[in-house]
Parts: sequence; C-alpha cells; structure tokens
Amino acid sequence: MENLLNNINEYKNEIAEFVATDANAVEEFRIKYLGTKGLVKTIMGEMKNVAPENKKEAGQLLNEFKVFVETKFEELKGSTVNGQESTANTIDLSLPGDTLPIGSRHPVVLMRNRIVSIFQRLGFAVADGPEIEDDWHNFGALNLPAHHPARDMQDTFYIQQNPDWVLRTHTSNVQIREMEKGKLPIRVVIPGRVYRNETVSARSHCFFHQVEGLYIDENVSFADLKQTLYFFVKEMYGKDVKVRFRPSYFPFTEPSAEMDVSCFICGGSGCNICKKTGWVEILGCGMVHPNVLTNCGIDPNKYTGFAFGMGIERPAMLKYGINDIRLFSENDVRFLKQFTSAI
Ligand code: DAH
Repeated sequence: MENLLNNINEYKNEIAEFVATDANAVEEFRIKYLGTKGLVKTIMGEMKNVAPENKKEAGQLLNEFKVFVETKFEELKGSTVNGQESTANTIDLSLPGDTLPIGSRHPVVLMRNRIVSIFQRLGFAVADGPEIEDDWHNFGALNLPAHHPARDMQDTFYIQQNPDWVLRTHTSNVQIREMEKGKLPIRVVIPGRVYRNETVSARSHCFFHQVEGLYIDENVSFADLKQTLYFFVKEMYGKDVKVRFRPSYFPFTEPSAEMDVSCFICGGSGCNICKKTGWVEILGCGMVHPNVLTNCGIDPNKYTGFAFGMGIERPAMLKYGINDIRLFSENDVRFLKQFTSAI
C-alpha cells in the first residue's frame, strides 16, 4: 500500500511535467498512460495484491489517479487544434507586426486629379454621368443627328440588346445631362472613362479617359474660354509654355478650336514627341452650339457658353515618360507602384 502510494506520487510528477508540442506526442501520452497496456490499467491490475483491509483506500487513490491522468490528457488535446501544432504557446507577441504593402495612385488618376484641381480653383464643380449612354445624350443632343458624317469621327461600341445604347465615346454626354437639369449658370468639369472601337496598340486603346469642361451663363465669350485655358496651361505646364489655337470643327461647338502648347519636352525646337513641329495638341474646345442649348431647353439668345474636352492618358504619358498606353490597364504592380504625387 505504502509502495503504491509512493509510485502514484512519482507518476503524478512525471505526468504533470509532460509537454506535447504536437498531436503525435498527445497520442504517445494516451498510449503510455491510458492505453490498454498503459500505466493506469497496469496499476489497476495491482489491486489484486492489495490486502483486503486496504482495498477501499487503494481503490479511491487509483480512481483519483485515473481522473488526474484523464484531465491531463484533455488538457494536452486542447493545446493542439485539429491535429495541428498549437500556436497558442509558440506566438511571440513581442515581435513587430508584418508591414502591409501600401498601394499607390494610378498615374491616370494622378493626372486626372491634377487637371480637375486646377479648374476647381477657378470655381468649377465636378460632375459625373453614365458610361452606358443613349444615342440622344452621346450624339443627338450634341448636334449629331442620325447619319451625320461627323459620327464617323468616333468609332462607337453599340450595345447588342438595345441599338439605342452605346458605350459613351466622349464625356460630352454629361454636358447634356448637366444642361438638362435646368439650373443655370453651369460651371463643371467632368472626368470619366470613354470607349472607342479602335484597334488596341501602343498609341491607342479601346477605352481611355477624358476631362470635359462646360461653362454656361449670360455673356460668356470666347475670351473667357481662352483666359480659362491660358490659366490651365500655366498651372499645368508652367508659365513659359506657349499656347496656340487652331480653327477646327466639332458639331457641338461653333466656332471650334483645337489648342496646342509648345512642346514641353524639347521646348519647341522639335523632337519625336511633337513630331518635329514644336507643338503638342492638348484639347478641343469652342462655344457651345446654339442647337445644343436649344436641345437642352436653354435659350441661346439669353445664354452662351464654352466647352472643352481633353484626354488624360496622353499628358500622363508625356509627364511620366510612358511609351505604351496599354501599360495603364495591364494592372502590373511593378508599373503601377512607380508613380507618386501629393494628389
Ligand atoms: N468630345 C470631343 C472628343 O471626344 C472633345 C471635345 C471637343 C469636347 C470640343 C468639347 C469640345 O467639349 O468643345 O473628341
């Protein structure tokens, strides 16, 4: 009896110190102490040698021991999850955390923000509109009736389910939506994505981005248009850059013009970017055509306005020295993470 007691206490110490780092060790424990040939069973077998007067006490001791071993077994099982090693005891909470990679703004977004913020400083608000547009807002209301030859200036994606719907070919559709609201004056810039059915190459893509401008009020003149754009060029490209307007044609403006700036790569002396001309074309613009105002319920005898539209990709390519427009939409992080700016 004395012997049994001593042995049990020794075993208890041994068991209390048992550590299992993985599921195999827990199983080893089970076999060694609780298995059919395990320690608990073996000691139970000893009961037959215990004197009858000690049997009761010995039985209690053994039962206690069995519960002790079983509790330890449950504890060990709990410290390993699904047979995996438990991390509970192995995580070092004092280690520094993993740093998450911080994203960067897309170069098109950077250029868009730059353009938009310059006009915001002049009091232009930002407007937005749908990319899937009906024929009226993309063409008709902009003085481009069905079969007008100028529709061919922009290769259009039509929506199969409804031939009246197109993917907008320019942001000019939002001019119409803003004017339709019936609130004057209007002074907005409209950044957004546009789509053209063009072969994708290093120089052109089937989707790209534009910023449109629209200003409608009483007595708005071509001089206002020029001053607004002069300010834009000065802020965007610096005060030494020269500007020229060339007469042009857009159905929705009359008169219409295209604006060039002196090449900011070569300073006007001629390089590959400006095709040796010394000038880079930046945007189209003009005075909003009276038909367009009428189409939107605005009286052209009372109100006048100007509009302009520019691409975003090209200035971004020039600024960042990007030679392939496809890079913008390939989502290659090695390309995208190179651009930084405050805005
Ligand atoms: N919508 C024209 C285009 O995509 C750009 C444009 C030219 C917009 C003249 C205008 C404008 O508002 O007045 O090519």
